[in-house]
Amino acid sequence: MPKDGKPFPQPFSEPSKESLPQDSIRFIQNQVTQHHRRFSDSIPLIASENLVSPLAAEMFATDLHNRYAEGLPGSRYYEGNADFDPIESHVESLAKRLFACDFADVRPISGTSANISALFSLASPGDKFMAPELSAGAHISTQRFGAAGLRGLETITYPSIPETMSIDTDLAVKAILNEKPRVCYFGQSVYLFPSDLKPMIAAAREVGASVQYDAAHVLGLIAGGRFQDPIGDGADLVTASTHKTFPGPQHGVILGGKDRELPNGRMLHKTVRSRVFPGVHSNHHLHKVAAFGVSLAEAIEFQADYADAIISNAKALAEGLWSRGMKVFAPDHGFTESHTILVDVSEFGGGADVSLRCEAQGLVMNKNMLPGDTSAVKPSGIRLGTPEMTRLGMGTDEMDEVADLIYLAAKDGHAEDVLARTAALKSQFSKIHYCWGSTPNAYADPIFTTTL
Ligand SMILES: Cc1ncc(COP(=O)(O)O)c(C=O)c1O
Repeated sequence: MPKDGKPFPQPFSEPSKESLPQDSIRFIQNQVTQHHRRFSDSIPLIASENLVSPLAAEMFATDLHNRYAEGLPGSRYYEGNADFDPIESHVESLAKRLFACDFADVRPISGTSANISALFSLASPGDKFMAPELSAGAHISTQRFGAAGLRGLETITYPSIPETMSIDTDLAVKAILNEKPRVCYFGQSVYLFPSDLKPMIAAAREVGASVQYDAAHVLGLIAGGRFQDPIGDGADLVTASTHKTFPGPQHGVILGGKDRELPNGRMLHKTVRSRVFPGVHSNHHLHKVAAFGVSLAEAIEFQADYADAIISNAKALAEGLWSRGMKVFAPDHGFTESHTILVDVSEFGGGADVSLRCEAQGLVMNKNMLPGDTSAVKPSGIRLGTPEMTRLGMGTDEMDEVADLIYLAAKDGHAEDVLARTAALKSQFSKIHYCWGSTPNAYADPIFTTTL
């Protein structure tokens, strides 16, 4: 619905096949405007989403968006990259500086394409691949129907500790020594606590396995020096999205420790380069590379404070829900050491019902499987994350208010004033923090300048 009486341009409904093509453009513009207004009034708590900074977003609309640059700086299959090549080289240097590592490939266009590139570098069809269990928070990349299956790998899972959604280190070490996989993969989509990497990486080394750490969710925490240090602990490759706790453009990255010879005699870094291109990608979305560079520069300045605030807000949100009687995961372990919390809402009808009920009140979150669940569409839990609200300057006091709203919406979908309270709280937090410059409202109406 239009907000504050501000009219949307016509038409509201989807144009028919007979409509003017310009009507389709107006329709799309309306929908985007409506989306902005909806988010302006909502509290987004999706653990994998964030707000890119205004400075980084300025790169999206540059001419880089229109160009190709296959290959590496100085050795391209396309002409016209004289000005872009130094950008890509510099963005790689920034990534190596921020993550204190020897290797960075900034060309993957997503966390998934980074994972596929890494698995095509480290493993061959038929190899054994060890990863966390899906019901213990693993990403679909690890599954038969995801990147691992695409590479023809046999996935074996680490034993896990259901109370914390963590890998059971001692049992995992034994399993690695016993199974002798080709790749040990760590990292999760529900990642509450750091993995105890050193003993598991030592076991991987003993059996000649390579180590991949998927930091899609926690890249921003790692960038801020929090959560854990997978490269420092000895991982061969870190793959990640660049837009979750790391508040960059929607893109991907592969980071690497020291170069080494793989069991097939090839060198690791050179292999990754060739798997990223021409293996998995052709063009690598140059405007996003430039935007990632801006975000990396901002992260060098701001990410430590931001990561701290994300984690303390997650703990405060968990505490707020727990104090209202909600079954937050891992109460004996401080609930979380990351940006994410997990709540068992089976008493309120399960994750699917609760997440929809909350969305109707402006509280946006995911339904999520809990250990023992068998259905991903009707799971018992919800997953909540604090990156976006922290980015907008909310602190631990506001987390208590957010907890109250979630509790009321989960308990009673018709709770009277939750929608209005959500919008009122949100209206005080619309400016993007932890970056240079800012817009007054991160969700301000988009400006479409071309007259139709
Ligand atoms: C652990 C993990 N790896 C990879 C991905 C995929 O990232 P992208 O959406 O950038 O492809 C996700 C997405 O949420 C994830 O949670």
